[in-house]
Parts: sequence; C-alpha cells; structure tokens
Amino acid sequence: MKKIVVLISGRGSNFVAIEETALREAWSRTIGAQIVAVISNRPEAKGLLLAKEYGIDAVAVDHKAFDSREAFEEKLAQVIESYEPDLIVLAGFMRILTEGFVSRFTGKILNIHPAILPSFKGLDTHQRAIDAGVRVHGTTVHYVTADLDGGPIIAQAVVPVLPSDDAHTLADRVLGYEHQIYARAVKACVTGAVSYENGRAVMDNETARYLTLLGKA
Ligand code: GRF
Repeated sequence: MKKIVVLISGRGSNFVAIEETALREAWSRTIGAQIVAVISNRPEAKGLLLAKEYGIDAVAVDHKAFDSREAFEEKLAQVIESYEPDLIVLAGFMRILTEGFVSRFTGKILNIHPAILPSFKGLDTHQRAIDAGVRVHGTTVHYVTADLDGGPIIAQAVVPVLPSDDAHTLADRVLGYEHQIYARAVKACVTGAVSYENGRAVMDNETARYLTLLGKA
C-alpha cells in the first residue's frame, strides 16, 4: 500500500477533498494508496478534527513549542518518517520549509498554491491578482523544492476573473478547482503517472491533459 501523509495548518478543505476522492474512487483497492496521517503545526487546526472523523491519525507538531525552525523541522521530519510515506502532501501548510528538510524528501513533497505560478508567488494571491487586473487566475500543484513556490509544476487549473470579483469570491472560485486538481495530482503522483526527474515533473500527454483544468466563472 502506498502511504500518503498530509500536512495542514487550518481548515483542511483540500485534505477533505483528496480523502473524499480516495473513498469515492476506492483508492486503497484500485490504486493501492491511502492517506495514513494528517499532521498540523497548529494543534487547533480544524482539519485535525476532520481527520479523526475519517479514522485517520491526526498529529499536532506545534511549531511554537520549539526554539528554532530547525528543531521544529527535525521533529516534523521524524513524525513524517515514522509513517514511511510515499508522498507528502502540503495542503494549506503555512510554514516555510528549509532546504535541509526538503532535501530529506526530494521528489516526494507536493504543494498547492492559489495562483497560476510563476505569477503571484507568496501570500494574498487573490487580491494581488485583482489589483493586477489579470483576466485569468487559478491554482498550481507543484513539487516542493527549496525555491519557495518555485518547484516543478505538476498541474494547473485556470479560472476567469470577473469585474465584480473581490478576493473572497475569487478565492471561492479557485478553491473549488483546487479540490479537483489536487486530488488528480496526488493520484497521478502516487501511481507514477507523474514522476520527479532531474528537477522536472515528467508525464505523458494524456496525463498532462488530465492535470490541466479550464474552469468556469
Ligand atoms: C488553499 O487556498 C491553498 O491553496 C493554500 O491554503 C489554502 C488552504 O485551504 N495554500 P484548506 O486548509 O485546504 O481549506
């Protein structure tokens, strides 16, 4: 069985979307994969409660309990390694990870970013997209490297930006597609349809089509 560990910091809607897809598509039977643990750096994260409801291990590694980023990451890495995961899925995990941590899990960590990378790296992406006047916005799933929001791109979903949008309506529209594209990307990575090779996300045309969504307003 391929093991997936999910890292969160908050509400966990992307985690739920992936788990719901895994249940609906019976991943444990059809592709031999399951989410084995959800880990949060915030003990109060709603997503930890949701994980428990699914019967999935829910673990808090509170970053505030450590003197340094390195000490926090060492503990986090130990907890992750105890599950021997094939894939580590960052889903709203709001801590920057150092090169030391990332290199321990090269090619195994995915992240979802709420913008069409390489545009709008960092925070506050929806307001920045509106302020920039772009006509399309969206979300990107990528491998995590030491380059923040800069790792190889696996999947993207694009949505229109409407004149009536504010950051909230745009975030809602993007989030609906995050939930679809992230489940697809996790499945493609866990089955080997996408692989990390020499700093690139490698896939065939059919997989690339499956990992590109053009959304509606
Ligand atoms: C998502 O918008 C994701 O793109 C960003 O943080 C948010 C997490 O939402 N990185 P949730 O916790 O999955 O509901």
